[in-house]
Amino acid sequence: MYRPNLMVFVLYFSLECICQSRSAIYSLNYIYTALSKPVELPGIHEFTAMGLMNNKQIDYYDSVAKKKIPKQDWMREKLPADYWEKGTQSRKSKEQWFKVNVNILMDRMKHNNTDVHILQWKHGCEIDQQTDGTLKFIKGIDQYSYDGDDFLAFDDATMQWVAPVDQALPTKRKWDGVQILNQYTKGYLEKECVDWLSKFMEYEEKEFSSADSPPKVYAFAKKSQIAGHVRLTCMATGFYPKDVVMHIKKNGVPLTKHDGVLSTGVLPNDDDTYQIRMSVHVPEADKETYECYVNHRALKEPIVEKWDGKCGDCGSVVGGVIAAVIPIIVVLILVGVFVLHRRGTIVIPCLRTTGKGSQNEGSSDRGSEEDVQKSMLPNGSV
Ligand SMILES: *[C@@H]1O[C@H](CO)[C@@H](O)[C@H](O)[C@H]1NC(C)=O
Repeated sequence: MYRPNLMVFVLYFSLECICQSRSAIYSLNYIYTALSKPVELPGIHEFTAMGLMNNKQIDYYDSVAKKKIPKQDWMREKLPADYWEKGTQSRKSKEQWFKVNVNILMDRMKHNNTDVHILQWKHGCEIDQQTDGTLKFIKGIDQYSYDGDDFLAFDDATMQWVAPVDQALPTKRKWDGVQILNQYTKGYLEKECVDWLSKFMEYEEKEFSSADSPPKVYAFAKKSQIAGHVRLTCMATGFYPKDVVMHIKKNGVPLTKHDGVLSTGVLPNDDDTYQIRMSVHVPEADKETYECYVNHRALKEPIVEKWDGKCGDCGSVVGGVIAAVIPIIVVLILVGVFVLHRRGTIVIPCLRTTGKGSQNEGSSDRGSEEDVQKSMLPNGSV
């Protein structure tokens, strides 16, 4: 009986469909790392802090620079000076908190100052953006680790601290003793963190939209290896961002893989834009209407490019001969030019194609006072 295997197969495909139809998961995390004493390693500081959105760094602070700085252009452009000043103050006070608490923990662990010890705090939230655009909170994390091992973690559901090691129990009791702080933590993770994340996502999205570029669409046919057929190709190029919808339509109906449509998938051009090609074999004598349908965010309406029914390199034998001879002529010309160039008779100018220029617009709402950063504070000492 192969029924179980079939079930797995069916389950696999239905899960894949669910996963594809749901859109992405986004996260915002802050990570603070404190060493018990400085180490002589380049780039490693006694205290560092950073914000990460979707695992990409968005801000940074360390105990040498003592300044919270943006790590993404959109952070720099969209958040007012006030955000960075308050953030710097907040990071400075956290640095002090870590200095005190890494020492308390070393005592509790019966560690002396011979080796370096590390206290780390990570907090943040994950959300799921449904296909209709609404955001759903998935989970919040708020956890401490000591020398790389879990030390204490906040359980969002029960609003209690969880201590995986005995040395963390005094801290758990102390912090759980102030329920209002646990309520604040839950509120931060489920509400404030999500608000910041959606705000940041909007900022990032807006920045990208200034670089949007619409596709150019071409429909053409060439001789096919299959006798009596031509290969109809639909090409879209020069678009940004990379999400695009393309169909080859026959009499208005999109053709699919089952009709033999092949796709290159979205490929990068060398100027930060993208291209895609789809092709299908069409009988030479086919008089149906074929068109390329392309939709993209940078287009007001989809582009529909009709195939004129012509084939670039089919047709007459003369055409075939010319097609075969042209490359030979080109090679001969190139060889000639090269020889003359070597003799110094002619100079070949350097041809440079310029890429798409960056089109970053200055942000107009820079410096607005709309947001005052209320960030998460650690509880009292451990
Ligand atoms: C520090 O701790 C290490 C390991 O526990 C021990 O070998 C060492 O003697 C200690 N040093 C001092 C100064 O107490």
